[in-house]
Amino acid sequence: MEVIIRPSAEQAAELVAWLIAARLRSKPDLVLGLATGRTMESVYDYLISIQRSEGLDFSHCRTFNLDEYIGVPAEDEHSYRYYMNHHLFRRINIDLANTYVPDGVAADLRAEAANYEHLIREAGGIDLQLLGIGEAGHIGFNEPLSALMSRTREKALTPVTRERNAAMFGGDPDKVPKRALTMGVGTILDSHELLLLATGGAKASILAKAVEGPITAMISASAMQLHANCKVIVDEEAARELKGRDYYDWIFHNEPEWREFRDLASASPSP
Ligand code: F6R
Repeated sequence: MEVIIRPSAEQAAELVAWLIAARLRSKPDLVLGLATGRTMESVYDYLISIQRSEGLDFSHCRTFNLDEYIGVPAEDEHSYRYYMNHHLFRRINIDLANTYVPDGVAADLRAEAANYEHLIREAGGIDLQLLGIGEAGHIGFNEPLSALMSRTREKALTPVTRERNAAMFGGDPDKVPKRALTMGVGTILDSHELLLLATGGAKASILAKAVEGPITAMISASAMQLHANCKVIVDEEAARELKGRDYYDWIFHNEPEWREFRDLASASPSP
């Protein structure tokens, strides 16, 4: 795992966008795993601006989203399908038929979950999976005690998650769906590369536990420690409780793989 600390949330999101752009340039038919949530909104804004300034081409790219609320149809503005169409897909040159989000209103949710796994396998697996982290330590909607080998399935959301996501439902946690379909921790770990973005002081404590604490099913994000190609990008506030930051900073400033990403702030237009 590598942890990269950027001065601001914007610079952290920008770095994530440029990493995605670099992977897409070297593999135009990239299979990209995507996440939703507030943290990702600036990543998608930067991707759109990079597409406009650099002509980034998404026409051969396929995407798989991590999760979807159960009982919320695609056309509902609270669905993650709606979020993706609104924040990214309709603003880039991707074919909507190549974008996959689990169907939260499928008549048979078990079959939908199995089919989602099948579609990912058929695509050759996920090349790069983008992740956020919830304050309950989840990746996707893998709430505490999710098996580290779990696959796509139905999951009940914790009160913490419903509370944190209430803003998107008019501030009322009771309006947040109680269940979601989510890729499992095992599904996520099968991706060839993981890229997690965490910003803001509210994530500092859980991020430090996930990155530097023991691997535990209580914090599904800690399973990232098992992955051989995993990058965690954070801003100063989210990095506050990390103990190993001097080493992480040294890596970013000295390892050749990061050279092209060190001076981004001046290189890209603001979204
Ligand atoms: C969303 C997802 C979640 C979020 C996490 C952080 O698809 O998989 O794990 O990434 O809850 O959400 P925000 O960014 O809203 O704090």
